[in-house]
Parts: sequence; C-alpha cells; structure tokens
Amino acid sequence: MNVFKRVALLCKPHAKYAVIGFVFLIAANATRLIAPRITGWLVDDVIEGGNESLLIPLCIALLGLTVLRSVSNYVRGVAFEKLSQNFVFDMRTDLYDHLQEMSYSFYDNNYIGEIMSRMTGDIEGLRNMLASGVVQLAENLIWFVGSLILLFFLSWKLALLMVVVAPIVAVVAVLFRRKIHPAFRDLREQNAVLSTKTQENISGARVVKAFAQEEYEKKSFRKENQEQLRLALRTTFIWSDYVPVLDFLGNLCTPLLLGVGGVMVVNGVMSLGELITFTGYIWMITGPMRSLGNLMNMFTNAHTSAEKLFYYKDLGASIKDKPQTRFPEEFKGHVVFDHVDFSYGDQMVLKDICLDVPAGSTVAVMGETGSGKTSIVNLLGRFYECRGGSVSIDGIDVKEMPLRKLRDRVGYVMQETFLFSESIENNIRFGRPEAPMSQVQRAAHAAQAEEFIEEMPLKYDTIVGERGMGLSGGQKQRIAIARAIQYDPTILVLDDSTSAVDMETEHEIQQQLKDVMKNRTTFIIAHRISSVKNADQIVVLKEGRIAERGNHRSLLAQRGLYYQMVQDQYKDAASLGKGVL
Ligand SMILES: Nc1ncnc2c1ncn2[C@@H]1O[C@H](COP(=O)(O)OP(=O)(O)O)[C@@H](O)[C@H]1O
Ligand SMILES: [Mg+2]
Repeated sequence: MNVFKRVALLCKPHAKYAVIGFVFLIAANATRLIAPRITGWLVDDVIEGGNESLLIPLCIALLGLTVLRSVSNYVRGVAFEKLSQNFVFDMRTDLYDHLQEMSYSFYDNNYIGEIMSRMTGDIEGLRNMLASGVVQLAENLIWFVGSLILLFFLSWKLALLMVVVAPIVAVVAVLFRRKIHPAFRDLREQNAVLSTKTQENISGARVVKAFAQEEYEKKSFRKENQEQLRLALRTTFIWSDYVPVLDFLGNLCTPLLLGVGGVMVVNGVMSLGELITFTGYIWMITGPMRSLGNLMNMFTNAHTSAEKLFYYKDLGASIKDKPQTRFPEEFKGHVVFDHVDFSYGDQMVLKDICLDVPAGSTVAVMGETGSGKTSIVNLLGRFYECRGGSVSIDGIDVKEMPLRKLRDRVGYVMQETFLFSESIENNIRFGRPEAPMSQVQRAAHAAQAEEFIEEMPLKYDTIVGERGMGLSGGQKQRIAIARAIQYDPTILVLDDSTSAVDMETEHEIQQQLKDVMKNRTTFIIAHRISSVKNADQIVVLKEGRIAERGNHRSLLAQRGLYYQMVQDQYKDAASLGKGVL
C-alpha cells in the first residue's frame, strides 16, 4: 500500500481535527479568492463609475474577509497542529510497543543508533509533513485551481495562457521528484549510520579512552559526517537545479499575463477593475508553481521517513504466539531437549542435543566459550527457536506455549548484566513490580547483595547509572541474581552469573542459592568446578555437541574433558593454597 495512504489511515482516529482543519483552511482561502474580486468592483464601480454609496459596504466586506481569514487561519493552525501531534504520539507509542514485541534476532540485526534515529528524526519528518506540508499543498491547490476557474470567468483567453505553461511546470516537477527521492533515501540512511556511530562512541567512551583511540574515533566520525554532508549537499544541488526553473516559469507568467491583460484593457476588451482583480490572482497562480519544488521536497522527505517507519512496523516479531497455544495445567519445570539442532544463521551452533532435566533438579552446563551454553538456555525461554528437534517443558513443546506465560515461569540471570537507570529496589523488583519491600530485601539477602546495598548512603533507593554504572561488576551481578530470585521462577537459569564475584562471595551465594533452588529446575552455566559439582547432572559441551554427561563422580571417573578441567583448576587452587573440591 502507498505509504501516504497508510499515514492517512493512521490519522483516522483524529479525523475530526483534519475535518475542522480543512473546513477552516478552505474558508481562509476562499476569502483570499474573493478579495481581488471586491477590489476590482471598488475600482470599476466606485472609482471609475462614481457610485460612492458602494464604497463603505465594499470596504466593510474587505475588512470582514480579513477578519474571517485571520480567525480561520488560527483555527486551521490549531487543528492541524493537534492532528500532527496526536499522530506522532500514536506513532511513537505504536512503534515503542512494537519494539517491545520484537524478538532477540531483531536486536541482533539492528543497531540501537539506527532505531533511535527512526524514532526521532523520521517521526519528526512525518509530523512536519502533516502540520505544514499538507496545509501548504492544500492551500496551493486551492489557489491554483480556484483562481484559474475565476480567471476563466473573467477572461478565458488569459486563463488559456496558463494552460500552456502549467504542463511544462508539471514535467519539471516530475523530473525533480524522480531525482530527489533516491537522494533523500540515501540521506536518511546515512543519518541512521551517523546516529549509530555516535551512540556506539558514547556507549564505548571508556574503551576509546582506555585505548587512546580518540583520534581514530574522531577521524572515523568525520568520515561518516563528511558523507552526511555530501549527501545533504547533493539533495541541495538537485534542489537548486530544479527549483530556479520552477521559479522562473512561475515568474514568467507575471509579465506574460500582465502584457496580454494590458493590451486587452487598452483595446477596451477588459475593464481596469477586471485587470486589477486579475493581477490579484496572478500570484495565486504563480505562487503554487514556485512552491511546487519546496512541496515536492517536503513530501519526498516525509515519504522516505514513512517508508522506514513502516518497514519496522511490518517486520513483525519473528517469534510469537501460535493461534492455538497450550500450557501445562501445573507448570512443574520438567525440561526435555529432544535432538535439538540450532543455528543463528547458516553456522550450526547446537547439534543433536538431548537432555532430560526432571522438575526440581539441577543441571550444570560446562564448556569452552562459544561452545553453545548460552544458546541452549536461550531456547528455554524461546528467545530463539530450534531448527530441528524440540524443547519441551512438562510434555509441551515451548513453541506451543504462550510466550508471556512461558517467560513468566523462567527466570534468567543473563551472562551480560544489564541494569536500568533506576533505584536498586526497582531493579530487583523489575519482573514483579507489585512485590513488597520485604521480598526485595529477602532476594537481595539471598544474592549476597544486602550488605553492600545497606552500606550505600541511599541504600535501596540508590539510583544506579545507565546499565549499572557506579557499581562493580560483582555488585551488578548480585543485583541481577536478586532480580531473578525475586521473580520466583519455576525454572531458574544462571548464565555465568558469578563470573565477576570473588570465590568467597560465590561460595556464600551458593549456600544461599541451595535454598532458592529447592523445588526449582535450575540451569547453571559456570566455569568453576565448585559451582557445578553438586548438580544432579553435568553436561560438557564441545563445539555445540554434548561431549560428556554425568554427575561429578561419574565424570571424574571418565577421565575426559571434565576430569581435565578439575585437574587444571585444582592445580591453580593448590598453588594458591585453597581447596576447590
Ligand atoms: N546472537 C548471535 N548471532 C549469531 N551468532 C551467535 C549469536 N550468539 C552467539 N553466537 C555464536 O554461537 C556460538 C555459541 O555461542 P554461545 O551460545 O554464546 O556460547 P557460550 O555461551 O558457550 O560462550 C558462538 O560461535 C557464537 O559466535
Ligand atoms: Mg555464554
């Protein structure tokens, strides 16, 4: 569907503003069309004809028209402003809601900066079109068509003159649009690139400084900025190639019309008043021709923005509820991976994974970085979908379950800790906003976070910076653990959740977690043997396959990968004088 048609459809809920706006717009411009006529009568009947009694009524009429125009323009302005602002409000809300529904893969493939640029610049482009583009277009249309019609009644010969010039203007305008559209598209695209670059640079400012790469960053930004400049200038150049032509054609009409009109007055075919009326219409005819370039510019710009915005809207979530969903009557958390294959793109990441995790038991997943541990647990909450085989919980394939309900029962401590720039209290309470403070504290206690939180001046009210700035890595992880505990899930996933805390704290967390893990199915991903040795089963991944499985004892007896890891860590610990086993 045409994007403008879609924009119009989205304006439907605010149609009343559009209707009011257009009514008053027409009213305001009708006064403009009438005014030259009255001026003409003033000249013909009062000044030339000496009918003085008409002077006052005609002047009052002119005054009335002016008042009407001012009032109408005011109402029109408010109405279109309301229309455009409400539209933008809807669009922003809609897109934001839409972004909430998007799957992991969308965020894998789209840059934050780009999304931000769409949410701000492109939406603003559309607003501008609705608030002023539509008004200008309608006004110009009314002027042009209206005065042309009135001109026909005045003198069809003069009007015919216009019909000769108009097609030339139209051809130039079409050529202009054809050139400027791709230019605008590139410009918006580059805008997104620049926005991404800026966003990344700011997010990564610390890394840039640490590696003293400011100069490199400056240079690479300058490069993108230069490209932005080039593309912006390109649209300007296209503009400046065509707009003067349109302007010239518009201006050409004035002497042309005046010349012909003058001859007609001299020959007595037309009265002086009519000529004056007529000159009043000239700018209404030439004006639209001259602004055509400007209008094309604005609409083409808005068109490209709308395309981008609808592209997001049309993407849709790659993972969503099936029309018919099923959910276990009692969610116990018996997880079964049945011959699961998985890949992000073409590269297979998990191959033939079979795993049976009884409800309430603990499974530890070990393996080198990149062996697929995080990928396995991502399938549990159906953040990605497996290619082959199935992941089921309590006998039902997760693909059949309603996403919200499934994710309500699975709690994650993710490998990369993300905290919101909110109070610690609200961060812990994130998944269950209605939880009482006592529960927040209990969760913090279990995650060994209580102590350091209590030491902060504002305690639980401390606002953590963006992504948890101001906290140490270990502190952030402990808040993330508290958040997951507080969520009270049936299936708890701890993805490398204690990697940043010291051994002692980890040990304490584990003691506390024992309680938390009771009656929950738990997936632990960890590197330290101390974290996994008590698990009911341990699987060792190697390049996406399960290479070994068993419990601590049986795996030690196998003398394979696990045994090797134990040996290595034991050696390290022995050299430090600490026991791991
Ligand atoms: N979002 C992603 N898109 C594409 N490839 C990914 C993505 N996440 C991980 N991978 C790839 O999948 C493989 C397994 O990654 P992962 O499950 O994160 O391993 P682990 O958690 O064991 O370190 C790696 O080769 C990694 O490069
Ligand atoms: Mg991982």
